Amino acid sequence: MSKAKKSFFCQNCGNESSQWQGQCNSCKEWNTIIEEILDSSKNKIWDSFSEKIPINPSKSIKLNEIVINNESRLSTNDVELDRVLGGGLIPGSVTLIGGEPGIGKSTLLLQVSLKLNKKVLYISGEESHKQIKLRADRINHNNPDCFILNEIETEKIFKQIVEINPSLIIIDSIQTLYSKSINSSAGSVSQLRGSSSELITFSKKTNIPVILVGHITKDGSIAGPKVLEHMVDTVIQFEGDRNHLYRIIRAKKNRYGSTNEIGIYEMTNNGLNVVNNPSQLLLSNTNLSLSGHSIASTMKGLRPLMIEIQSLVSSAVYGTPQRSATGFNSKRLNMILAILEKKAGFNLGSKDVFLNITGGLNIEDPSIDLSVIASILSSYNDIPLSKKMCFTSEVGLSGELRPVPKIEQRIKEAEKLGFDTIVIANPIKTFSKYNSIKIKQLNKIEDLINLLFN
Ligand code: TYD
Ligand code: MG
Repeated sequence: MSKAKKSFFCQNCGNESSQWQGQCNSCKEWNTIIEEILDSSKNKIWDSFSEKIPINPSKSIKLNEIVINNESRLSTNDVELDRVLGGGLIPGSVTLIGGEPGIGKSTLLLQVSLKLNKKVLYISGEESHKQIKLRADRINHNNPDCFILNEIETEKIFKQIVEINPSLIIIDSIQTLYSKSINSSAGSVSQLRGSSSELITFSKKTNIPVILVGHITKDGSIAGPKVLEHMVDTVIQFEGDRNHLYRIIRAKKNRYGSTNEIGIYEMTNNGLNVVNNPSQLLLSNTNLSLSGHSIASTMKGLRPLMIEIQSLVSSAVYGTPQRSATGFNSKRLNMILAILEKKAGFNLGSKDVFLNITGGLNIEDPSIDLSVIASILSSYNDIPLSKKMCFTSEVGLSGELRPVPKIEQRIKEAEKLGFDTIVIANPIKTFSKYNSIKIKQLNKIEDLINLLFN
């Protein structure tokens, strides 16, 4: 009998090494390396079931003869999830949903199972039937064709799939799956890779979409080998803090759609509710005028979004002033401060500057530059800005304001939310008529200072 091949895997990041060591070379975690037996016979379980499931024949088709229409996507009946997926689930696709514990992965997927008017098989290795029933009772939806399976053994799961023949399979979570044919413990890298590969083959052959839940490691990536993210078609990440009311989903990878879209939910007593007007949510409701606050009109994917920016400029206590930004690129903040020094004559060299984008969002859109400047100037001068004014423009290195794309959409969003003035760069094109919002077009930072403080 040939000797079984063994290798060492980090259980945190999936890095493979030829010998045991105390610390993983890749993720630098301690005591995470475990010896696993490598199994060369792939997809054993799938092979034993493949005759029982109707599968797509392996046959070459001319590219021109393949028909794609939007109906071929399976809508999850959840607008936000559909948007992030690019319009719904593609038949035969595997989607991985990752996120911190307690953020709402199981809640979202149970909700999807209950909202869908099709046969769904929800496989949970983490919760019992009763626990899932209790959770389902909190969500105000019902699907008579929602089947719950409390199982971790891949072989038994496949038996149930063949028996039930569902239109959607949900696995909560991939880390709990265990296959007898793989010689290592549940949650190990070999098990994870083995069961994912079985499920992916299954999905591709039968056209049944599969959604997997993945745990995440301390640094926020999905636990297990990176290869899992390469294998699946779509990776969706839950963001935000579980202590906050709001949860954001974002596609990190999407073979069938854009990765720009986000979905925003609110965690309530009845599960995750879609937030219809995210801009309203991100703006504080206080009527107090505070210095250092300003509102920017930005784009998240294809949607305009109003966000609040806060700055604090104070005298530096230590020799080197501190600059810190949350949700904004700190290099860009340094650039903006340099522009303010050089072009507008502000002495910020002896000041600490802190910048925060509220709501826990991370904004890369340069159109918030002008709003960042307005909030820094407001805090520097200790003069509050009007709560009815918002900004959208990129700022160039010579202090000139630069036009940004989709300006009409941004103005409309600001008007919808009751702003009376929007400050933008001086573009050449003319605008459609707006009744309740004034558009101020400026050329350079000096114009902004005149507008705000003179
Ligand atoms: P859960 O969905 O189990 O998170 P995950 O699967 O990502 O670990 O839990 C989400 C949290 O939300 C949990 O702490 C309980 C809470 N929750 C509500 O506030 N309202 C609800 O209706 C439900 C079902 C859960
Ligand atoms: Mg869960």
